[in-house]
Amino acid sequence: MTERTLKQVIPGAETSDGAGVRIKRSLGQHPSVRLDPFLMLDEFGSADAADYIAGFPSHPHRGFETVTYMIEGHMLHEDHLGNRGELRNGGVQWMTAGRGIIHSEMPQQEEGVMRGFQLWLNLPAAEKMTDAGYRDIQPEDIPEITVTGARIKLIAGTMTLDGASHQGAVVGRSTDPLYADLQLDPDGQATLPVPAGHNAMLYLYEGDASLGEQALRRSAANVLGDGDRITLSAGTNGARLLLIAGRPIGEPVVQYGPFVMNTREEIEQALRDYQNGRLTA
Ligand code: CO
Repeated sequence: MTERTLKQVIPGAETSDGAGVRIKRSLGQHPSVRLDPFLMLDEFGSADAADYIAGFPSHPHRGFETVTYMIEGHMLHEDHLGNRGELRNGGVQWMTAGRGIIHSEMPQQEEGVMRGFQLWLNLPAAEKMTDAGYRDIQPEDIPEITVTGARIKLIAGTMTLDGASHQGAVVGRSTDPLYADLQLDPDGQATLPVPAGHNAMLYLYEGDASLGEQALRRSAANVLGDGDRITLSAGTNGARLLLIAGRPIGEPVVQYGPFVMNTREEIEQALRDYQNGRLTA
């Protein structure tokens, strides 16, 4: 057993996306700060409607998946396939852009808090042109596991805890992603398995927590070195953090806005297809 330690910290940078939604972007703020197979991680969180009300009107994607986790708030997803999904407190939307999707994500609230995360998960070359797909995952369909010191919402992947194997809401993706929302008890300590060889990070969004002796930075991608487990401890108010890990793809990444492919030629093709109305054909 090898403990993973903190290797790199990528602070979330304040920026805006969509029609003017304020976000903190850690992974993906620059091409040099991706974490294969993850391309981008945005945190959104505000009690001021001006920060989110403009939403994300109709826009395209090709070549990867988006995973949106709503901690608190209400957003409506609509896409060219006719899918319509309400994303509410604790729910997850798992969207496979594949060869092409055109969708919108618009707030369904005019006041109050909206907060959550959007993660971009890359697809290997062999799957980039797969059919688009979309799945709404209700909060009650996300397994919740209690261990000493922590509660775990297992959005994706499998975890063996106290000898029992637990399966998340999403499994069977080729990069075997692990996506867990961890709630540490006040002064709690928990040791959790993370598959060796996976790239992994922790994103602290509430309270204080340490990995071993190393304090985690809030609203930042705390990138981990290799190993097969992590030992976390929380401060007196407890902590909430995301554990995100996946098997690296190891292929070239060429990104142009919402298109993520392996070569420049494929990006140019995506732009032509979009201009000709054939992105989703
Ligand atoms: Co989108």
